[in-house]
Amino acid sequence: MLYSAPCKIFDAAGMKRKHLLRHAIFALLGCSLSLRGADDLILADFEGTNYGTWKVTGEAFGRAPARGTLPGQMPVDGFNGKGLVNSFVGGDKSTGTLSSAPFTIQRRYLTFLIGGGGYSNETCMNLLVDRKIARTAVGPNTQPGGSERLQSASWDVAEFLGQEAVVEIVDQRTGGWGHINVDDLVQTDRRPAIEQQNVSREFVINQRYLHFPVKNGAAKKKIEILRNRNMERFFDIELADAEPDWWAFLDVSAWRGQKLTVKVNRLRDNSLALSSITTADEIKDAATIYHEPLRPHHHFTARRGWLNDPNGLVFYRGEYHLFFQHNPYGREWGNMHWGHAVSRDLLQWEELGEALYPDKLGSMFSGSAVIDWNNTSGFGKEGEPAMVLVYTAAGNPTVQCLAYSTDRGRSYTKYAGNPVVKQITGSNRDPKVIWHEPTKRWVMTLYVGFDENKDGRKTTRHTIHFLTSPNLKDWKVTSQTEGFFECPDFFELAVDGDAQNKKWVLTGASSEYMVGTFDGEKFTPETKKLPGHRGKGFYAAQTFSDIPANDGRRIQIGWLQAPSPGMPFNQCMSLPLELNLISTPDGPRLTWKPIPLSPQSAFSYFPKGLSLQPGETNSFGEHTRGFLAVTAEFEPGADSEVSFNLNGVPITYDAQKQEINVNGHRAPAPLRAGKQRITIVTDRTTFEIFASDGLTYVPVPVLWKEEARGAEISLRGAPLKSANFSAVELR
Ligand code: FRU
Repeated sequence: MLYSAPCKIFDAAGMKRKHLLRHAIFALLGCSLSLRGADDLILADFEGTNYGTWKVTGEAFGRAPARGTLPGQMPVDGFNGKGLVNSFVGGDKSTGTLSSAPFTIQRRYLTFLIGGGGYSNETCMNLLVDRKIARTAVGPNTQPGGSERLQSASWDVAEFLGQEAVVEIVDQRTGGWGHINVDDLVQTDRRPAIEQQNVSREFVINQRYLHFPVKNGAAKKKIEILRNRNMERFFDIELADAEPDWWAFLDVSAWRGQKLTVKVNRLRDNSLALSSITTADEIKDAATIYHEPLRPHHHFTARRGWLNDPNGLVFYRGEYHLFFQHNPYGREWGNMHWGHAVSRDLLQWEELGEALYPDKLGSMFSGSAVIDWNNTSGFGKEGEPAMVLVYTAAGNPTVQCLAYSTDRGRSYTKYAGNPVVKQITGSNRDPKVIWHEPTKRWVMTLYVGFDENKDGRKTTRHTIHFLTSPNLKDWKVTSQTEGFFECPDFFELAVDGDAQNKKWVLTGASSEYMVGTFDGEKFTPETKKLPGHRGKGFYAAQTFSDIPANDGRRIQIGWLQAPSPGMPFNQCMSLPLELNLISTPDGPRLTWKPIPLSPQSAFSYFPKGLSLQPGETNSFGEHTRGFLAVTAEFEPGADSEVSFNLNGVPITYDAQKQEINVNGHRAPAPLRAGKQRITIVTDRTTFEIFASDGLTYVPVPVLWKEEARGAEISLRGAPLKSANFSAVELR
């Protein structure tokens, strides 16, 4: 049978809808990305509930088109509509073929979407003319990892016009990437876009920023910024071919008046990406930054892009410096830079731009910062000690490096002698450096993970290595401790504020910790590993270096894995937290409390607080913007349950269980001398709860309900023996 008209599997309405939509979008944009001509012939779109006239052999293709991702498969996207050919039925091990009925070639080109394995003859699609393979195409993947995204491709079939042909989709491979995905086969006379390699455009720089269009989820492109053929910057980016979701910016002010070349590794010839890159002195959409619907309010976020670990927390000349793991060009992890912000009060932050860019040694992974007051490194200038950043360059292997600033952290020079710590063994990262006054040396705690063979089985050991140095440049390993993973921090605290009774605390990325002693070379724990925070997604915290002695606080910031879906930025930092060690019957334990926040007004004082009766609900805060700090101090009866509903998020303290429940997440919160003291700080993407005099810290990523803005407190069970509630709106 010849068919140029759609066969059974063609859902005419569905296909039309999706093409019309695309038509409309691109017409609007004035470009012609995969525009369907009125006279295009749709061979198959795999939207139906069976394969129609297509013939199946083997198991790999199942009996009908797949509806997206199959069990055990990485997420499949890039196909059109709901259905596609996906030969992952039964996993990679299954094989088979799927062949069209014969059809006549009536247009110059056959276009299609293809994904999956990249093996000729094994995971491929063939065009058979005269029973011979006239054209063939494969998916993009042959390596572990990769992507299940379908990409558009085409064949020029002009030489076969009028002839009969068959499309045959083949899966004869059983190992890794042993499957093929196909969608939307279309005959067309419009020349399909051609992918070009290494396309570039030149700019003479006379403004501060280059702006790159980003389409969340688009295929990643590699960008290189070249100056006189030298690569100055490089990164991956989900480049928008047409209308972007947002614009990423790159500061190019260092090259004012000079020529820069922006090179993209591959780009379709109809992409608008390169031509839409612009230069400007301002950040695009600057007026909307910090006003986005899911922008946290009193938690630090990057203006643009992804953030994770806080890095290099250091205080110098009235400014707190917060560096952070940053992807300036995407909402997801990647391209690790050190972003940088400063604050005079730990509440209001000003983002300064990138402090460290990836280089030949790798991308910029986590680390710390110190002020080299005694100029041990020689990086300082007369009257200006160096601020030294100690970071991981995540090449192969990962190594530890230095960069320094003598202009209050406004610009950085990477040390020419990098790396200062070469690979010890396995994977090394996240150096946290402190000055150890008794030995007058620097001490570094460093995560070192390595594989070991134990009884013939491979296991990974996670250790923290202790290193010392007289000058930040020459380091010597002095000891190691087991049991912590990534991002160590190491600091001394006075127990109950008693300067005569100080203890050392070692923490890992999950904020578990041990308390013990330190002789300048070796940490001797006096406790087992203790739980840190009791919430979700608080990670890689570190504390500030160089807080002046007359302040003396130990202030910690952690990464809160709190997403801001759909925004041009993602994730936030915790509130700055003051850490203390207090003695408990079980020994010294850490407490967390937020640094003093800045109240707008004490809008409500719960006049009925003391008399809150079982069954009673008190409402407050309807007229606020929702940014609250609520404090509750009470002595519960045996089975009292104090519940809050803050902007639609439920929080309950259950006195019987001595447990706090935040939106379904439970955490132990023991009474202290019969009393409970709770502080709850709310923000758009995250709540932080402090209970049991700070022994329980419960950060929880949660999106509050805008329509439920307001607050309620209620009581069930036994009456409270005493109570004191207050709430403030945060500035
Ligand atoms: C922890 C971590 C670190 C690493 C950094 C990379 O979240 O994996 O170990 O340095 O993130 O972004």
